[in-house]
Amino acid sequence: MESLKGSVFLVILHLLGGALSSSLIQLNNNGYEGIVIGIDPSVPEDEALIQQIKDMVTQASPYLFEATGKRFYFKNVAILIPENWKTKPDYVRPKLETLKNADVLVAETSPPGNDQPYTEQVGKCGEMGDRIHLTPNFLAGKKLLQYGPQGRAFVHEWAHLRWGVFDEYNNDQKFYLSKGKPTPVNPPNTKDMNNEEKKIICGCIVEFCTEKNHNAEAPNLQNQRCNLRSTWEVIRDSEDFKKTTPMSTQPPMPTFSLLQIGKRIVCLVLDKSGSMSSGNRLNRMNQAGKLFLLQTVELGSWVGMVMFDGAAYIQSELRQINSGTDRDALTRSLPTVAAGGTSICSGLRSAFTVIRKKYPTHGSEIVLLTDGEDNTISGCFNEVKQSGAIIHTIALGPSAAKELEQLSKMTGGSQTSASDQAQNNGLIDAFAALASGNGALSQRSIQLESKGFALQSSQWMNGTVIVDSTVGKDTLFLITWTTQPPQIFLWDPSGKKQDGLVVDRNTKMAYLEIPGTAMVGVWKYSLQASSQTLTLTVTSRASSATLPPITVTSKMNKDTGKFPSPMVVYANIRHGASPVIRARVTALIESVNGKTVTLELLDNGAGADATKDDGVYSRYFTAYDANGRYSVKIRALGGTNAATQRATPQQSGVMYIPGWIENGEIKWNPPPPETNNELQVKQVCFSRTSSGGSFVASSVPKAPIPDLFPPCQITDLKAKIQGDNLINLTWTAPGDDYDHGRAYKYIIRISASILDLRDKFNDSVQVNTTDLIPKEANSEEVFVFQPENTAFANNTDLFIAIQAVDKANLKSEISNIARVSLFIPPPESPSPTKNSTICLEVNSSISGLQFFKIMWKWFGEMQVSLGLH
Ligand SMILES: *[C@@H]1O[C@H](CO)[C@@H](O)[C@H](O)[C@H]1NC(C)=O
Ligand SMILES: *[C@@H]1O[C@H](CO)[C@@H](O)[C@H](O)[C@H]1NC(C)=O
Ligand SMILES: *[C@@H]1O[C@H](CO)[C@@H](O)[C@H](O)[C@H]1NC(C)=O
Ligand SMILES: *[C@@H]1O[C@H](CO)[C@@H](O)[C@H](O)[C@H]1NC(C)=O
Ligand SMILES: *[C@@H]1O[C@H](CO)[C@@H](O)[C@H](O)[C@H]1NC(C)=O
Ligand SMILES: *[C@@H]1O[C@H](CO)[C@@H](O)[C@H](O)[C@H]1NC(C)=O
Ligand SMILES: *[C@@H]1O[C@H](CO)[C@@H](O)[C@H](O)[C@H]1NC(C)=O
Repeated sequence: MESLKGSVFLVILHLLGGALSSSLIQLNNNGYEGIVIGIDPSVPEDEALIQQIKDMVTQASPYLFEATGKRFYFKNVAILIPENWKTKPDYVRPKLETLKNADVLVAETSPPGNDQPYTEQVGKCGEMGDRIHLTPNFLAGKKLLQYGPQGRAFVHEWAHLRWGVFDEYNNDQKFYLSKGKPTPVNPPNTKDMNNEEKKIICGCIVEFCTEKNHNAEAPNLQNQRCNLRSTWEVIRDSEDFKKTTPMSTQPPMPTFSLLQIGKRIVCLVLDKSGSMSSGNRLNRMNQAGKLFLLQTVELGSWVGMVMFDGAAYIQSELRQINSGTDRDALTRSLPTVAAGGTSICSGLRSAFTVIRKKYPTHGSEIVLLTDGEDNTISGCFNEVKQSGAIIHTIALGPSAAKELEQLSKMTGGSQTSASDQAQNNGLIDAFAALASGNGALSQRSIQLESKGFALQSSQWMNGTVIVDSTVGKDTLFLITWTTQPPQIFLWDPSGKKQDGLVVDRNTKMAYLEIPGTAMVGVWKYSLQASSQTLTLTVTSRASSATLPPITVTSKMNKDTGKFPSPMVVYANIRHGASPVIRARVTALIESVNGKTVTLELLDNGAGADATKDDGVYSRYFTAYDANGRYSVKIRALGGTNAATQRATPQQSGVMYIPGWIENGEIKWNPPPPETNNELQVKQVCFSRTSSGGSFVASSVPKAPIPDLFPPCQITDLKAKIQGDNLINLTWTAPGDDYDHGRAYKYIIRISASILDLRDKFNDSVQVNTTDLIPKEANSEEVFVFQPENTAFANNTDLFIAIQAVDKANLKSEISNIARVSLFIPPPESPSPTKNSTICLEVNSSISGLQFFKIMWKWFGEMQVSLGLH
C-alpha cells in the first residue's frame, strides 16, 4: 500500500471537545467486538502506550467475565494510532473506525493533573454512555494507588458506558444519617483488604452490587438515577443481558488490531437528477459544495467528485488539497445542469472507482447528497459494506430516498437533512458539519454563525457576529441570495470597512476570506435586498495550535422518534476539557414541511438534563407535526454569564482511593485534585452554530395531535428539616408535556420505608397539596409542610417522593426519593451527636480526604487497631 503520510504538516491539538458519538461495538455471543480505543493526536508519541492499552484490556476481560457471572468478555479491540506517530509494518489503515466514534479516548486533560478515568454519560439510567476517557498517566500505572489496577477501573467505566449504571459512591457526601447514626456512603471494600501487597481501602470493582448487598438508602447517583436499583439489577435489564447465557468455558483472550490514521480521502457523490432543478436545489447544492471545498475540508485531504442521475459521471479524480488553487479547481467541477433519473448505486460505484485508482476504499469517506427516491438502493448495500467506506448522507427536500439513513448507520457516517426553505440554511449547515472525524481540533472548521432572512420590499438586515479569541484563523464570511446580488457591507471590530468580497453571480453567492487571524470582537454586517432570501454563514478555525477552541457538538437520544415517545436534544459545549456553563443554547428543529420549533436547551440537571453545570445542555422535543425527517441545528451564545469550569462535576468515574494499608499502617494518598469545585467564572463571549444531524419521526397521527405527553419525571427533589418539625422540599418544576408548559398538580407522598414508597407509592401517606400550584416548567419550586399522620419522633427516617399530573390526568414517573432523618440531640451532653450532625452539612472547603480522615477517626474501631494519629 502506498504511504498515506503526506507532506503537509498538521499542527496537533486536542480532539477533545465532547463526544456524543456513535459506536461500532457489537455483542457477538458473549464477546464484545469492534471496541475502538483512540489515542488523541495531542498525546506525545510513545509506543509503550499501545502495550499498556493491550495490558489493560487483557486484565479487564477476566474481571468482566467473573463480575457478570461468566456472561461477557472483551473479544476484539481496535487501537487507533495518530497519523503523526511513526508507522510500523503491523499498522493497517482503519475501516469505519474514527476518533469521532471511538468508545475510549486516551488524552491528557487540560489542565493536566487530573487522571481520574471517567465516562461521558448524558442519558438516563440504562442508556449507553458516550465515551470513556483515560489518560496516559493512568494507563502507565502511575495512578495505581489512587484508582486501583487499570483493568478493574476499566470494567467500572465499561459498566457506565455499556449499561448506563451510575456510581455507588459519593465523593461529595461520604456519610448520611440513618436513624440518627452517621452511616458511610462508600463502604470499605473488604475483599481488597485481604489482598496481600497493598490493601486498598475502597474503590474498585470485585463484583457488581446486587439487590442483596446494595444499599438503596445511600445518597449516591445510582440510587438517584436508577430508582434505587442495584447496578446488577440494571445490567440484568439490559439488551446485552437478555440476549446472552452464561458460558461454560473460559473465554478467549482479547485480540487487538492496530490502526494508524491516514490522510483524509473524501469523494462527493452529488445528485443532478431532474428534480434538482426545482426549488433552486441545484444552485443551493453548489453554494454548499463550495463552502465545503473552499473551507470545511482540511488541508492535506484528498478530494474527488462524482455526479449522478440515472447514470454516474466522474467530475474530478482524487486531488490533494495543498492550496487555494486545488480548492478552486474542485469547485469548478460542481454540476451545473439538472436532468435525468436517480441511480444512487451508480453514483456510489463510481465513487469507489475514483478512490480505488489511488487508495483502498476502506476508511475513505463518501458524501452522498440526493433529493430523489430510488427503490434500487438496497441493491448495492453489500458492495457498500464490503467497501469499508464511511457514507455521510444528506437528504434534500421531502422526497429523498427513505433508505439513506440506513447507509449512514451501516457505515458509521453522519446523517443530515435539509428542507427547501432556503432561509433555514440547512444545506450549508449540513456541508459545514462535514469536518474530519480524525482531524486535530486546531484544523477543524468551526461554524460561528448561520442565519437566513426572507426579505420583503427593499429591507436592511443589520447584525453582528462575535469572533472570540479561541478562533479567527481562516475566517470566511459567506452570503447567498436567490435573485439579485444584495448590497453587502462588513466592518471589523475597529470599525474598518472590509473590501475584497468575491462575488460569484452564477452561484448567487459572495464570500470574504479574512487574511491571517481575524480581529477578536464584534464584527458588524449590513445587507440590503428586496423580495428575496439571503443567508449569512461565518466559519473559522482555532486561532492557535495550543489554545483549544470553544466547540459545540450535539446529538439526539435516538435516530427515530416513534410518536408519542419524545426525542431528547443534547448539545455539549466545551473549551478543551472544560465544560462551558451558563451559555444561551437553542435548538432549531425543522420538519420536512419546513415548520421550525425553537427549544431553549438547559443545563439545569432537571427534566431531560442529567447533570447540572456539566456543559451538556438538554431538552425534550415533543412538537411532532408530521412523519418523516426533522433536521436539528444548535445555536450557542456565550455572554456575560458564560463561565468555563475546570472539570466536569459528578462525572461517572472511578472512585478516588483515599489510601491503603501496608504493614498494618494506613498510607494516605495525597488529596485528590480539588479542581472540580473551583468555578472559574470567566466571561466568555462567543457564538457558534452546529448541525445536530437529523432524525425520522413515525406514527405521528393527523392533526389535531392528541396530548399523550405526561410531565417529565422530577429528578432533583431535595428535602431538609426546617425548625422543629417542618419539612422543606425543593425541586425543579416539570411541565405539562415533559419539560414544556405547566403541570396541573403535584402528588406528594411520604413513608418511613424507602422501598414501600417506591413500590407502593399509591398506598403511601399523601401530603395535602391543595395550596401548591405548579409553576412554569424549569422554575424552582419550594414547598414546606408539616407531616401529619406519621410518627415524627426522634430517630425516624422519612422518605418523600413527588409525582406531577397534567390537565389530561397523565402522570409523570415518580421522582427521585428524598430523605430526612430527624435526630433530636439530648439536651446536655452534646459530644458524639454534635459531630454526627456535622456530617450532613458538608463543608466544601474541607477536602474529601480531610473529611474522610475526620469520619474515619470517628469510627473508633479503626482508630485503635491502626494507630491513626
Ligand atoms: C442598517 O445599516 C444601514 C447601513 O449601514 C443603515 O443605512 C440603516 O439605517 C440600518 N438600518 C437599521 C434598521 O438599523
Ligand atoms: C426552603 O429551602 C429553600 C432552599 O434551601 C429556601 O430558599 C427557602 O427559603 C426555604 N423555604 C422556607 C419557607 O423557609
Ligand atoms: C397507582 O395508581 C394508578 C392508577 O391510579 C396506576 O395506574 C398505577 O399503576 C399505580 N402505581 C403503582 C406503583 O401501584
Ligand atoms: C388541605 O388543605 C386545605 C387548605 O390548606 C384545606 O382546605 C383542606 O381541608 C385540606 N384537606 C384535607 C384533606 O385535609
Ligand atoms: C434521640 O435518640 C438518641 C439515641 O439514638 C438519644 O441519644 C437522644 O437523647 C434522643 N433525643 C431525645 C430528645 O430524646
Ligand atoms: C467531637 O468534636 C469535638 C470538637 O468539635 C471533639 O473534641 C470530640 O473529640 C469529637 N468527638 C469524637 C467522638 O470524635
Ligand atoms: C469550612 O471549613 C473551613 C476550614 O476548615 C472553615 O474556615 C470555614 O469556616 C467552614 N465553613 C463553614 C460554613 O462551616
